[in-house]
Amino acid sequence: MRNTFYILLLLLLFSCGSNTQNKETAYDPYDYQIIKQHNFRKAAVSSAHPLASLVGKEILAKGGNAIDAAIAVQYALAVVYPNAGNIGGGGFMVVHTKDGESATIDFREKAPAAAFRDMYLDSEGNPIDTKSRDGHLAAGVPGTVKGMELAHEMFGSLDFKELIQPAIDLAEHGFAITAREARGLNRNKKDFQKYSTEPSAFVKESKWEEQDTLLQSDLASTLRRIQDQGAKGFYEGETADLIVQEMERGGGIISLEDLKSYEAVVRDPVVFDYKDYQIISMGLPSSGGILLQQMLRQLEEYPISEYGFQSKESVQLMVEIERRAYADRALYLGDADFVDVPVEALTNKEYLLSRMEDFTPLKASKSEDIEAGEVLLPTKEETTHFSIADELGNVVSLTTTINGAYGNRVVVGGAGFLLNNEMDDFSAKPGSPNKFGLLGAEANAIEPGKRMLSAMTPTVVLKDGKPLMVVGTPGGSTIITSVFQTLVNVLEFGLSPAEAVNSPKFHHQWKPDVIYVEKDYPKTLIAELEEMGYEFKERIPIGRTEVLMLEEGYINAVADKRGDDGVAGY
Ligand code: DON
Repeated sequence: MRNTFYILLLLLLFSCGSNTQNKETAYDPYDYQIIKQHNFRKAAVSSAHPLASLVGKEILAKGGNAIDAAIAVQYALAVVYPNAGNIGGGGFMVVHTKDGESATIDFREKAPAAAFRDMYLDSEGNPIDTKSRDGHLAAGVPGTVKGMELAHEMFGSLDFKELIQPAIDLAEHGFAITAREARGLNRNKKDFQKYSTEPSAFVKESKWEEQDTLLQSDLASTLRRIQDQGAKGFYEGETADLIVQEMERGGGIISLEDLKSYEAVVRDPVVFDYKDYQIISMGLPSSGGILLQQMLRQLEEYPISEYGFQSKESVQLMVEIERRAYADRALYLGDADFVDVPVEALTNKEYLLSRMEDFTPLKASKSEDIEAGEVLLPTKEETTHFSIADELGNVVSLTTTINGAYGNRVVVGGAGFLLNNEMDDFSAKPGSPNKFGLLGAEANAIEPGKRMLSAMTPTVVLKDGKPLMVVGTPGGSTIITSVFQTLVNVLEFGLSPAEAVNSPKFHHQWKPDVIYVEKDYPKTLIAELEEMGYEFKERIPIGRTEVLMLEEGYINAVADKRGDDGVAGY
């Protein structure tokens, strides 16, 4: 009896001890805070959702590396941030390891085998406005689950089952949604009902409110199949069957064969020097790295830091550089597995210098006229980026998307996740603008199995061979110019990462020939540039940029003020 008493006492003490230990890193999915900026001593995560950042921190604190944490964060975002976090979409991962190795993983969606060039055109050859964006036909073959598996095979150190477990817990036991998420779900209720063929966790009778619990049991089961079988638990068997049944009910074209044959790919990163820094970014099928290279290479010819932050000289120069880069993007860039892209020529210094020969300081140049109709202002755009650094010296920069907010708004019946509407990133009709007003040519025309051109720009900046910044953002066509501005703001104008991220942004994408600005952009500066001949348009907030700045002895982690984005670390 006495012995039993002591054993019970010991057990009690032991369990108290382990509780205390858990508390150090534990998070409460019903009670969490948004931390926008913090200096962490060893490791940090900045992502679009505080819970996802906390999941990443837990994995890092357990001894997982940045890639383990990235996999856990990607899956957690698929649960807590359904408007962009995903398993039904794709993305790009840029890794720089403690051993100095750089690698990128392309898990971009692909056009299904039954896709064809003119599939979104009417009988007169004009794009049918919403066909590439809404509903089943808008979905490309998802790449995320294969991408995470490849990342784990290459760099993972913890058991994959542990990495996906937090996402399963959040889906199964729920979490409190933020006010912003509640608004998003309410705004999209009609679309979920219109485009999904079965009821889903995202639709309830009454309005969603801040702090409501979101429970996703179908998604939890799907994640468990991935936990048990790896990527096969998604691309084959029950989940694949559910996706194909959903396609059949809704008139989509993704087949079992499309799913089974999907592969994520290791690509050479885009690597280039900018002054004393080395930039590592994503190559094709993203246009991000190539355009960043073009723009920074042109910029380095000018004394931009002397012009100063938000001066008319610096903004005009950057706008003219952006104009020229986006013109090249529209004509030349597409999936290099399918088309020849003259990457070397486009990033060649002489070529880039020649592109700026007609640049006149303080005078606007004009983009040529376009023959296609109305260029749309982006209204609903969602992608998400996260940046991670571990205590070993590995960093990950990862941007992932289902394209529009909540993708094509189709929740796969019985599987509980949203599909992407990434097919809209192709040029449905060369010369006609897509959702982001972006133009494309033959290089980005639809072909079966081809990847649609992206603007996602997950980037790592090295100084003396060591990571200095980890940066990226959502924002459709504005992604590349947001990353460009964030880098210039820090590296040239000496802004702190938080100032660099949170200052109002501008954007020019060649066509339409306007400078887009956020609504708090300085009015006097706008007036000065208008005098030079520029036209302005106010738009919705630009980007949600997550930056880690690796200073001597600490990491300055910053989450964009524009959303619920939050940092975590230790
Ligand atoms: O890959 C791309 O460039 C687009 N699908 C990204 C969409 C996006 O950033 C929407 N978000 N804010």
